[in-house]
Amino acid sequence: MKKICINLKSNLTRKQFEEYTLRFNAFLEGPCEDVVVFPPAQAFYAGNTDFIQGAQNFYPATSGAFTGEITANQLEEFGIKTVLIGHCERRALGESEEFLARKLAFAKKQNYRIIYCIGESLDEYNAGKSLEILNAQLANLEGFSDVWLAYEPVFAIGGNRPANIPHVKSIFEHLRSKHKGILLYGGSVNPSNMSDFSGFVDGFLVGSAGLCIDGATQLVLKA
Ligand code: PGA
Repeated sequence: MKKICINLKSNLTRKQFEEYTLRFNAFLEGPCEDVVVFPPAQAFYAGNTDFIQGAQNFYPATSGAFTGEITANQLEEFGIKTVLIGHCERRALGESEEFLARKLAFAKKQNYRIIYCIGESLDEYNAGKSLEILNAQLANLEGFSDVWLAYEPVFAIGGNRPANIPHVKSIFEHLRSKHKGILLYGGSVNPSNMSDFSGFVDGFLVGSAGLCIDGATQLVLKA
């Protein structure tokens, strides 16, 4: 099956994520390495999850004076070994390529599974600069061949902004020539449009369509 990674962003409370987890466990009926869910850190689930539980964010340190940040010791307490790095919503908050390189290096040292996001903006796409931008973002990945790389055109994120399939396909051809690991697509993916991409992707990074448990299980059924 294809990988299904669900980024819940800043949605769902602890109580709601507990309910989501219990229903997902009942659906999966046993451990599934192909499904990853990133809840908000405040809602991390301490019990068994049959999907892989991941962290949307972390600070590259085990602990210390980093006000408001989540460090490796806190992730370890929940058994979390999978992290998202480079999501455009964090890049937009000011995470630079240099800081992302530090997060990558730290995550590698911790033996985390890394899901690394890259993607161009609408202006960059319209200016014909997609490959230039993606190549610059890929520079951080030298020596990280087993990262799960997620291509997410920024303008396709939001739940109802379908991407241009031929463009995505051509980007995947380019990415396959540069990255030997798993390649995911993200940006308004839902159970109805997954098949447009399934011929050339290894899986999906999904936001909106996975927020409710019925949507999440539909995604897995179609994967
Ligand atoms: P979306 O989000 O599925 O709501 O477009 C995807 C993402 O941000 O990874």
